[in-house]
Amino acid sequence: MRIILGVGGGIAAYKSAELARLLMDRGHAVQAVMTTASQEFLRPLTFAALTGRKVLTDLFAIESAIEHISVAQEHDLLVVAPATADLLAKLAHGIADDFLTTLYLAFTGPVVLAPAMNVNMWQHPATQANLETLERRGHLTVGPAEGYLACGMTGAGRLASPEEISERIELAIENRRDLEEETVLVTAGPTQEPLDPVRFISNRSSGRMGYALAEVAAARGARVILISGPVHLPQPRGVELIAVRTASEMHDKVFENLGPATIVIKSAAVADFHLSKVPEQKVKKTAARVSLELDPTPDILAELGRKKGDRLLIGFAAETQNLIQEARRKLESKNCDMVVANLVGTADTGFESEQNEVVLVTRTGETLPFSRAPKREIAGRIFDEIMKLRLAIHAADGR
Ligand SMILES: Cc1cc2nc3c(=O)[nH]c(=O)nc-3n(C[C@H](O)[C@H](O)[C@H](O)COP(=O)(O)O)c2cc1C
Repeated sequence: MRIILGVGGGIAAYKSAELARLLMDRGHAVQAVMTTASQEFLRPLTFAALTGRKVLTDLFAIESAIEHISVAQEHDLLVVAPATADLLAKLAHGIADDFLTTLYLAFTGPVVLAPAMNVNMWQHPATQANLETLERRGHLTVGPAEGYLACGMTGAGRLASPEEISERIELAIENRRDLEEETVLVTAGPTQEPLDPVRFISNRSSGRMGYALAEVAAARGARVILISGPVHLPQPRGVELIAVRTASEMHDKVFENLGPATIVIKSAAVADFHLSKVPEQKVKKTAARVSLELDPTPDILAELGRKKGDRLLIGFAAETQNLIQEARRKLESKNCDMVVANLVGTADTGFESEQNEVVLVTRTGETLPFSRAPKREIAGRIFDEIMKLRLAIHAADGR
């Protein structure tokens, strides 16, 4: 695949050098196009050395008078990373005042945009409106991720990782819409079980894995209903979000919305215990020892296992030991079709990380280890396996 990599003038420009390298490692030819502002952050020489090709920078200083047209025609995909607020505005409105923006108008293939900027710039209604215009035009976007930003603020604005951008590019290349017939119900995040009006018990789930699954399913054409406990993540685009707090609310929303679902993915880390009689007033501090009597919460997965009908049911198992045995036990006891198991308790994968390393165990007897990768990439592979499983189950049932 021949890919044009448009580089905008943002702090994250240096990361697009890594993206160029990753795309080349994956067998693509990369043509870098840099805006004038981006050259304040990174020299064209970096991309020239990495891609082995002359870097295009100036509309009026090129060999052929119509190079922007020929470059557009000779390539299969345009990715812009980082896509600055300025570039999003220009692309949305068709302003063509440099090589990259002129090339964009002449380009007819798939476009992937990876925005990166200060959180206020990102949240500005002008930027959001431009993004909406670009998405309505059919362009795929990836990120921005949340986290510490170069400007010293924290929030949405970081460039997505090169792996995530590359995964989005693969999706755009394949234009995979293999989930168009599906309605995917995903649960995500932790639940919070109140102890009194101001305190609660919860767990370390960030919701990232469930949100990645919801995003990937929507990008592949599914209707997606995301039932989420309290998380600090932006609402994924094209997804119906239902926010809940407790295990019991999650239970009710899952069964209210089960009707249309064809695939149910229970990635939420639902609390196992709660206080059934929550005091109406804040419990006062005393010197005396306090003990809590907790009751079990409803077992949503087990009930889904009994009521699932023809739906595919995917459970998650976060374990600290005996990963595969526990996953298989859960698969059998909860009547799941697949269990996605991960070891938790390590710092760089699992609950709070952007990355994950999982093992899938399936009803057809397979055990599939997936090595460490961004959660979005793992989500894509989980759906690949779900669709294979659907075919295998249909074949075995003679349906
Ligand atoms: C130090 C510095 C960092 C910047 N980082 C960003 C950024 O991350 N995202 C962004 O949209 N603009 C950023 N800007 C502003 C852009 O560089 C500016 O809007 C420029 O006109 C963008 O040009 P381009 O879109 O043609 O690359 C930054 C500016 C400076 C001086």
